[in-house]
Amino acid sequence: MAKTTGTPVPRPAGTHQLQFGVFFQGVNSGTIWKLPESGSQTDFQSFRRLAQTAERGLFAAFFLGEGLRLREHLGRPHELDVAGRPDGQTLLAALASVTSHIGLVATQNTTYNDPADLAHRLASLDLLSSGRAAWNVVTTDNAWTGENFRRGGYLDHADRYLHAEAFVQTAKAIWDSWAPDAVAPGAGAERWLADGAVRHVHHEGKHYTVDYTPRLPRSPQHHPVLFQAGDSPAGRDFAARQADVVFSAHPRFDAAVAFRADITERTLRAGRPGIAVKIMPASEFILAATNAEAVEKKAWVRELQIGPQQAIAYLEQFWGRRLDAWDPDGPLPDIPPAAAETSETRGSGFHGAKAVELTAQWRQEAADKGQSILAFVRAKAGRMDGTFVGSYSEVADRLAEYARVGAVDGFNISPWLIPTGLDDVVNHLVPELQERGVYPTQYRGSTLRENLGLAVPEHSVAVEPAVR
Ligand SMILES: Cc1cc2nc3c(=O)[nH]c(=O)nc-3n(C[C@H](O)[C@H](O)[C@H](O)COP(=O)(O)O)c2cc1C
Repeated sequence: MAKTTGTPVPRPAGTHQLQFGVFFQGVNSGTIWKLPESGSQTDFQSFRRLAQTAERGLFAAFFLGEGLRLREHLGRPHELDVAGRPDGQTLLAALASVTSHIGLVATQNTTYNDPADLAHRLASLDLLSSGRAAWNVVTTDNAWTGENFRRGGYLDHADRYLHAEAFVQTAKAIWDSWAPDAVAPGAGAERWLADGAVRHVHHEGKHYTVDYTPRLPRSPQHHPVLFQAGDSPAGRDFAARQADVVFSAHPRFDAAVAFRADITERTLRAGRPGIAVKIMPASEFILAATNAEAVEKKAWVRELQIGPQQAIAYLEQFWGRRLDAWDPDGPLPDIPPAAAETSETRGSGFHGAKAVELTAQWRQEAADKGQSILAFVRAKAGRMDGTFVGSYSEVADRLAEYARVGAVDGFNISPWLIPTGLDDVVNHLVPELQERGVYPTQYRGSTLRENLGLAVPEHSVAVEPAVR
């Protein structure tokens, strides 16, 4: 339960409203895919249903993660994890045509893409959606992904952020290169393109050389909104310098307040106003008419999210070996892990954990608490930290407190059921929040930038006129 204390973050009046985004995750430990009402994870109708529900609830953003390689577990495709993800930009372009206001956020990494190409594709989505695109900039932490690109364990952590900075600066220069009035307004004009209105982008650095005449005019929101996800000090500083919104991993109240203070300080140090960077943590909602029902529902959701198979697979990531001979209702395995560091579930956030210490500690912890494998994993895994459990009104009160102190600017919600998992949020929680004055009652504008309350970026003069 969130505490209701916390120092208010200084913010201009009128900005204390929360925004919601929805994060379509695909099959993983948080998504229930075994219920009869669970829909396809890849069919367009699932994405359409979820995006349209979110839009009915005035959500700011529809959000897609990115995994450039199918996750593997013990050397084979992970049977219980993400089972295929359509390409983000293709999918978001299709969603643009069946929605009208919701922002369309594509997670795209800066390690395996090319700046001029990605900037063009994102600008295309932005233009075709009339200013609703966003790019969630990640550097991607899976060195193993590189094998897909014949680059092996390409770039260490620090280098990935140096690349990311050069990449984003280049993308911004590309998006800045067409003057606001570059394109003739109507049929009567003599030229489609105003003289001298397109500037050439030349970037020559350690990481990229780009010599490019950008191919698209600006969108109604100038260029895509920039999200960032990556939590290290380097990642946070990068967000402070470049991003509009952080997709954070800190939804718990105290952690959210501390994260806000940290980002504000870093943003000020980067020479931007402290409130320039919005924060939307990952979250999960388990709601019902009463608190008691919600608590019961949570137990049911967790049982479905983490069954015996998932519990064993979860431990296998850390033990680095098959554990299917162990009884999920019995104690944790009393054998050591196969390797000192986890590496068996490739593409999981647990890659590189100190397996020997961790597994010993877990065995002790489970024994102390008298927990079986299943009970232990249910308590350990999942998204406990970012889960709001309670009645609609009680959860609305707690969220209103986040808004009151300015701990976050909104939440990025991962539904545990696809495609109907947002229905109770939209039908019941949103009206409660609106009654408390902490959630929009209409879209502020038509672009994502307007709806998030972000300033339009200034036109840069740091690019040369195009050679004609
Ligand atoms: C909330 C959150 C969501 C993320 N989503 C993705 C994703 O969809 N695809 C991806 O490749 N990386 C994702 N990342 C990982 C980032 O790519 C980043 O590489 C990773 O967090 C390591 O950087 P860091 O050390 O700064 O945290 C995400 C990170 C966070 C915190």
